[in-house]
Amino acid sequence: MRDFSKMTLKEVLDFQISATEEEMAAYGAYHERMRQAEERHKLQLTIRKMVPGKYPDTTLDDWEETAKRKDEILTYCRWCYPPEVLREKYRTGAEFDDWEGEAWKAQMHNKTQLLLTGSAGTGKTVVTRMIQCELLRGYRLRLAVVYKGAEDLYQEYRSEGGAHNGQRYTQCDVLIIDDHGQGGITDVYKKWLHLVIDRRWEQGLPTIVTTNLNSEQLREAIGDALLSRLSSGQVWKFEGEDYRFRNRQVISKK
Ligand SMILES: Nc1ncnc2c1ncn2[C@@H]1O[C@H](COP(=O)(O)OP(=O)(O)O)[C@@H](O)[C@H]1O
Ligand SMILES: [Mg+2]
Repeated sequence: MRDFSKMTLKEVLDFQISATEEEMAAYGAYHERMRQAEERHKLQLTIRKMVPGKYPDTTLDDWEETAKRKDEILTYCRWCYPPEVLREKYRTGAEFDDWEGEAWKAQMHNKTQLLLTGSAGTGKTVVTRMIQCELLRGYRLRLAVVYKGAEDLYQEYRSEGGAHNGQRYTQCDVLIIDDHGQGGITDVYKKWLHLVIDRRWEQGLPTIVTTNLNSEQLREAIGDALLSRLSSGQVWKFEGEDYRFRNRQVISKK
């Protein structure tokens, strides 16, 4: 078979005049592969603008995750199927695929409310970033995924005061808040955050919160009601040594 990528324009034109049906099919397939590669490339460039650091260029396989955790992450991502689409399908009585049905149930039963707990350096941020990338890639940017550091969210709330646009957080398809509970937040803010999580919970919208605090500290920091909402779905506990320390040991062995 000819190498289409090396043909000049004139050669392509000559080829098209004289090609057999089989050769034209191969040429069509080549074009389709090129189109798909270009689409993947554009998607990758967009994701790099949305997700900082090394994360957009890594996949789950680049990280030391157990098979079980990888499976949990991928299952979770499937459950985040665009909520709008699922709702519309349900409303109009359209058929669900198997895993759309699974996603619908998970969203309705708030299994997409995910709390990640564990001390610093155990890999919570990495997992949320992997989920974010996986969602953007897997659903080809069709999901509005809002990722916010808890401290940034608080500062944004404070600086915008009453004009703060909470809708962005209550209505986005997936909300990720990283590192919640780092002290110094006001009661008004706690109430606002509770409202956001509550609204999302009522609508079955996926929300992920990570925290370094244990459950007692978390209860003290955010109160019983919010804690019970946050842990009513899935709780993934991150244990073991700080990854930064593990990596240091590997280096010192060399
Ligand atoms: N699954 C992993 N495999 C390899 N290295 C990891 C993994 N998770 C985290 N790390 C490394 O450990 C460091 C701390 O992880 P991070 O996700 O920031 O922890 P946390 O958010 O729990 O404090 C990261 O910079 C990363 O390089
Ligand atoms: Mg972190």
